[in-house]
Amino acid sequence: MKNWKIGDALKWATSFLLDSGVESARVDSEILLQRILDADKGKVLSNADEVIKDNHAAVYQEMVRKRSEGVPTAYLVGTREFMSLEFVVNSNVLIPRPETEFLVEEALDFLKKKGTNSPAVLDIGTGSGAIGIALAFYYPGTRVWATDISERALEVARINAENIGVSSFLKFCQGDLFSALPGGLKFDCILSNPPYISGEELKNLDETVRDFEPEVALVAPDESISFHKRIINEAPGFMKKGALLGMEMGIGQEAQVKILLQEAGCYNNINMIKDLSGIFRVITAEFN
Ligand SMILES: C[S@@+](CC[C@H](N)C(=O)[O-])C[C@H]1O[C@@H](n2cnc3c(N)ncnc32)[C@H](O)[C@@H]1O
Repeated sequence: MKNWKIGDALKWATSFLLDSGVESARVDSEILLQRILDADKGKVLSNADEVIKDNHAAVYQEMVRKRSEGVPTAYLVGTREFMSLEFVVNSNVLIPRPETEFLVEEALDFLKKKGTNSPAVLDIGTGSGAIGIALAFYYPGTRVWATDISERALEVARINAENIGVSSFLKFCQGDLFSALPGGLKFDCILSNPPYISGEELKNLDETVRDFEPEVALVAPDESISFHKRIINEAPGFMKKGALLGMEMGIGQEAQVKILLQEAGCYNNINMIKDLSGIFRVITAEFN
């Protein structure tokens, strides 16, 4: 496209994405162009008459086309903000979600209230590293063990820990839940946003999620709360007295997960937190 102006490019992309059924067409068009021009939103919007270089225009058209085919914007630009920190993301990791910030906030409140010095925190299924890295950043001195079954996810998490400047406070371990850990560890806080979608639910999931985000990050085997069940039952062997267990849940899972915690017989202060849509998203409990 010759002599394409910023304003015209944005109009074209928005209309192209709307026609393809992308609800966030305008926002996505802006984010993609910002990344290509390496400019912030204000600069893009206030320079509508500026002509885009031909090579930038070609890259933009290609990105918009991929977005129209369902590729998430975060994978196209390669980053997503979480807790006001910029995380590198790619198709090997779940894109961190705003609702997961509630889990981090709960853990931060817990650690601050207790005044724990240099707490030991476990982040199970760390993905991009979002939970563990944010905690290490906002609660200085926190030592985080971040585990994942996916070595490729851990590669991304290591990059994020380095970029955000907390890599000396994190240890990354590959493996299935607690079996990834070296022996003898006891934590002040165990956190997880485990996969919590059943194979059946996956079929009806938004295709931008279903077809592009890693299935290992989304789907729980057997039943949707199977990871919650295992974590609740196995965590006691890894918790200090009074430690916090915090997990994210899917829509409508709160009653079942609460019963699991009650039946385990070793947790108290069970607390559930709603996200901004009024959905019970996070559950926490303290180990007796
Ligand atoms: C829902 S994602 C959460 C990622 C990240 N913690 C976040 O909140 O953005 C779940 C993560 O659990 C990991 N996972 C899946 N099965 C696992 C297992 N058996 N043991 C450890 N991690 C597992 C996936 O690879 C994925 O990174």
